[in-house]
Order: sequence, then structure tokens, then C-alpha cells
Amino acid sequence: MKRRDFIGATGSATLLAACGGGSDSPVGMMSSGDMNPGTSGLPLGTTPALTEGQPLRALPRLANGSATAGVFEGTLVCAPTEIELAPGRRTTLWAYNGAVPGPLIEASVGDRVRIAFTNQLPAQESTIHWHGMPVPASEDGNPLDPVAPGATRVYEFTLPKDSAASYWYHPHPHRVTHEQVFRGLAGVFIVHPAVDPLPPGLVDTPLVLTDLRLDAGYQIAPNTGMDYVVGREGDALLVNGGHRPVLTTAPGATHRLRLFNATNARYLRLAFDGTAMTLIGTDGGLLAAPIAGVTEVLLAPGERVEAVVRFAADSVLRALAYDRGSMVMGMNGMVRASEALLTVRAQGAAVAPVVLPTTLRTLAALPAAGSFQRFVLGPSGMMGGMMGMTMGALTINGRSFDPLRIDATSRVGAVELWEVANPTGMDHPFHLHGTQFQVVERMSGGVTTPVPWLAWKDTVNVAHGETVRFKVRQSLPGVRMYHCHILEHEDQGMMGTLSVS
Ligand code: C2O
Ligand code: CU
Ligand code: CU
Repeated sequence: MKRRDFIGATGSATLLAACGGGSDSPVGMMSSGDMNPGTSGLPLGTTPALTEGQPLRALPRLANGSATAGVFEGTLVCAPTEIELAPGRRTTLWAYNGAVPGPLIEASVGDRVRIAFTNQLPAQESTIHWHGMPVPASEDGNPLDPVAPGATRVYEFTLPKDSAASYWYHPHPHRVTHEQVFRGLAGVFIVHPAVDPLPPGLVDTPLVLTDLRLDAGYQIAPNTGMDYVVGREGDALLVNGGHRPVLTTAPGATHRLRLFNATNARYLRLAFDGTAMTLIGTDGGLLAAPIAGVTEVLLAPGERVEAVVRFAADSVLRALAYDRGSMVMGMNGMVRASEALLTVRAQGAAVAPVVLPTTLRTLAALPAAGSFQRFVLGPSGMMGGMMGMTMGALTINGRSFDPLRIDATSRVGAVELWEVANPTGMDHPFHLHGTQFQVVERMSGGVTTPVPWLAWKDTVNVAHGETVRFKVRQSLPGVRMYHCHILEHEDQGMMGTLSVS
């Protein structure tokens, strides 16, 4: 994007923010300097150079403190920490146990999990939300259950039988989730099945994708008015906390990649140079069968995929250009050029390919839905219709999030058809707590397209102008959230409550 365009678009966002910001929007929390990059001396797109080309880091693992079989016990503390992102430069990030991304938690289906969480952030409430995991509502770290600064609480749940998947965890406090995540708080949680259908010999490789925007002093830059409109995108993409790292592997090695989009708002259209992927899993775990020959995968914020890739030669993982329609007053300044994320170096003695089984899992379609609910994303009213997006008007069914209001109800065990319509000018990733769902079809421009294969999802992109339908069944009672996973949108009200009884 040209710099001139960017300033033009940012100026408009500031205007929109000034006239559209209601008492519910975080505008009041921002100084006027934050609102206008021109006067704050904080130009966007200028994160200074970070160290790159280091070996891809293995994620630190959360140790299991329990000696009892079938029990996982661990401790997570969130607190500010200093991390060196360039030689001699210390950046203050917010981290779980001092690590960005946070420690990898690994447990197995059937396990009892107990995580003691201490909030050592200076002045904000926090929670840990177990994104996508089928945990009781009381243990899900939603905005109704904040943990005060200095306080500790224990999250406790049992992992159900069929819950093996690649999940993630992040804070979910009311209104400040976006800030806690862009300052570094996110980690991954892998639930293993009792017996893994994938053959040994695959190199299990979690890749946590995040982004960062720093100021000239290497500190986290605050959000701009534009960020509150379209969602914050950092300038530097990170993989497992490193910028453009290098994965060195044996020629021909077959990797089981677990890809996590843990950014606030960046759409990642992922592709490897010179090699296709075999898709084996989505948000809610394995597919029924591998899908070979996949050349690219779009991961919206919050989404995950598992893909098997064989690296016969060197390759590069790239985030290709994607137009998410973030149009503000007719100026589209947000389509980024393709960027390298990770370099793969095939080196040493060649290894034989790993042959995948033809079936991975029994995955039955949910039975026919007995009820229907419709959710319309949006800025409401004429301003929203004209501009695609305005501040203070991020809603679902015309209402801004209110933690004390119930917006929708479901019955435990009932299969429902949910329809999510996006008449706004930009894409929104729709996420539901408490369970996984099965996307049925997408409608756009008068054309209905059934999804080509069955998959468990907890987050689905609803492109601008598109309507998505999915079948869903909640199996635990309680109050759940559904929301846009562009975290600035969620925090400004694009979220609702579902009471399951
Ligand atoms: Cu990943 Cu309600 O969030
Ligand atoms: Cu969630
Ligand atoms: Cu959104």
C-alpha cells in the first residue's frame, strides 16, 4: 500500500471515530494522540527491523504437575515481561509464564485438567478462555467471570471422549481482550486422542502465527482509530514468537503442521512455494479423510488447520494477498502484498515419505435441525450501510454486547441451524463458544454453495456480502458467547450471549 493512501484512510477513520463513537466504544480510553498518528508522531507501518532468520523455536511446554494418571495440573501466570526482538532492544510484552506465545499445553481425551491462573497484569481484569474446547460455561473464562489483578482462580474440566484437536487459549475480559492479545497473551492447547490414527514418522510441528506493531522505541504501539474500525494488523508477522524463522528439516521429511491464527485481525492466506498441502484437520480436529493437493488455505483470526506437508526441497511459507473488504469511505488501503512467514531448509540425508491412512476419523453429519436462528452482523443504520463500517456501531442483530442481557437461547442436545449474514463491507470471522459446529452452505450473490466436505469448526469466516449456515448442538448448559473474532470488533460490541438450558 502506498503511504499516501494509508494516511488518507487513517484520517477518515479518525473522523468516523469522532462522530460515531458511543459511550460503549473504547474511544474514551484512548488519548487524542492515539487517535491521530499525524500528531502522536506514531506513523503506522514502521515497526523497526526485528531479528529474523533464527531457527524456528519449539514452543515451551507447560509441565504437568500431577503424578496421577489422567490428571493434568499446571499454572499459568500472566504478567508483563521483557523480550529481545532485535539485538539490544527490549520490548515489554504481556506473557503467560514469561513466554510469547504462551506455553504449549498437551493433554489427552479423558484427562481431568486443572489450571491455576494468576493475573499479574498491572491494572486490568483478565480471564483464560479455552477457545473451541467443550468445557463447562463456568470454566470457560468468558467476560462474565473476570479475574481481578492480583487474583488467582482455578479452571477445571474433563476433556470429553471425541475432543482431540488443536485448540488455543487467550484472555477474554470485557472490552480489553484486543489489547491483552496484541500485547502477547495467547497460547496453544493440543488435545491428543487415545490412539492417534496418523502414522509415526510425522514431525509434529505447531506453528503459532501472530503479528506485532512496535513504535520507534521498540515498544508496543497503541491502537489507532483505524485499528478500531478494521481491526489491528501488526507490521511484523511472527511464527512461534520469531520473525521469519527457519525450519531446518531432512529432505523429504513429512510434517504434521498445526497452524494457528492468533492475530487480532490479520487474514492469513497461506501457501508453500513449490509444494501442496494435504489437509487433515480443522478447528475441531481431524477430517474424515485427508484432502490432498491443497495449494492454499485461508485462516481467519481464531481459525486453525492441520496439514501434512512433505518437504522434498527448500520452501517458503507465505501469507498471500487477501482482500477482506476493509473499505472505509471508499478508500481501500488494507490489501497487503504477499509476505514470507517461514523459510524451510531441506538439509542432510533424505528420508522416505510417510504414507497417510485413507480414513482418519468417523465424522457423522449432525442430524436435521429442529430449529433455526439468524444473526445479522453489522453496523446498523444508514451510516453503516454507506460506509461499510463505523465506530460504535459494531453489532449483531442491531445490538451492541451487554453482558447482562441474554440475546439467544438453545436447548441442551437440540440440533439447530444457525444463519449468519454479513451485509457489511468487510469480512468478519464468526465464533461460537461451548461446542464445535458443521458448516452446511454459503450464500453469496444469489448463489448457494454447499461446503465440499464435513468438518468441525468453532470459527468461520463470513465474507462481506456472504451468508453462512451451520448446524450446531450444545451439550452443556450455561451462558455462552458468540462474536466476531476480529478482537477490536468483539470488544466494541460485535458479540452476543447464548443461554443454553
Ligand atoms: Cu477465541 Cu470468544 O474467543
Ligand atoms: Cu472462544
Ligand atoms: Cu468483525
